[in-house]
Amino acid sequence: MIIAIDGPAGSGKSTIAQAVAERLALTYVDTGAMYRAVTLLALEKGVSLEDDDALGSLALEMEIDLSESAQGLPQVRVAGRDVTKAIREPLVSQKVSYVAAHRKVREALKLRQRGMAETGDVVLEGRDIGTVVCPRADLKVFLTASVGVRAVRRKRQLEEQGICISAKTLEREILLRDTHDSTRSVAPLRKPRDAIEIDTTELSIEEVVDRIAAEAVGVGSDGGGSC
Ligand code: CDP
Repeated sequence: MIIAIDGPAGSGKSTIAQAVAERLALTYVDTGAMYRAVTLLALEKGVSLEDDDALGSLALEMEIDLSESAQGLPQVRVAGRDVTKAIREPLVSQKVSYVAAHRKVREALKLRQRGMAETGDVVLEGRDIGTVVCPRADLKVFLTASVGVRAVRRKRQLEEQGICISAKTLEREILLRDTHDSTRSVAPLRKPRDAIEIDTTELSIEEVVDRIAAEAVGVGSDGGGSC
């Protein structure tokens, strides 16, 4: 079964997608981590964030590995280096939407994400999974939440990684990123027509996961487990 979970920053996608993957014994794919990894590499190598060709090559060629740490937490490695924390640093968060707007970056990562979904048993989360990467997904979910709640969630998440930023600053960053992501010309963030929308503002993680798991039972795997 392929489940596509999309939504804006801080809507709960990664927490929910991980829990759904665990509950249904599917592989979790954090596509945002891939855009963040390209951004980190570009910043480190001094590649211009305007250079579609150079960024596209980075996205195509980077050696990225999305796996789990010994503690069972998602881990991101680039060329063997653990970048799990580095890709969440404020500078990467500020720049990632610019990198993600490039056509060649999106083309490269889309192909790689489809490759990761080839097993047919995955939960992919991002911005364009249900609309562009896996339009034939068995189940599409679009998560939303109020911006205030999203900022507070993000603050807590970053604190766990030792990064301290005020909720107000995060709210500004989130709104800016939402605007970039939903107004870009290539694969903008939007709710797929056939997605179920869940407003997570007042729901617990458990409640959202229960709802998605129940929907998953209902749909079976008509899409044949392909994107
Ligand atoms: O975790 P958060 O919601 O803050 O963001 P993320 O999932 O780590 O994604 C970071 C950024 O990557 C987004 O703001 C988008 O600009 C971009 N992205 C995208 O364009 N398409 C995706 N499928 C996933 C992420």
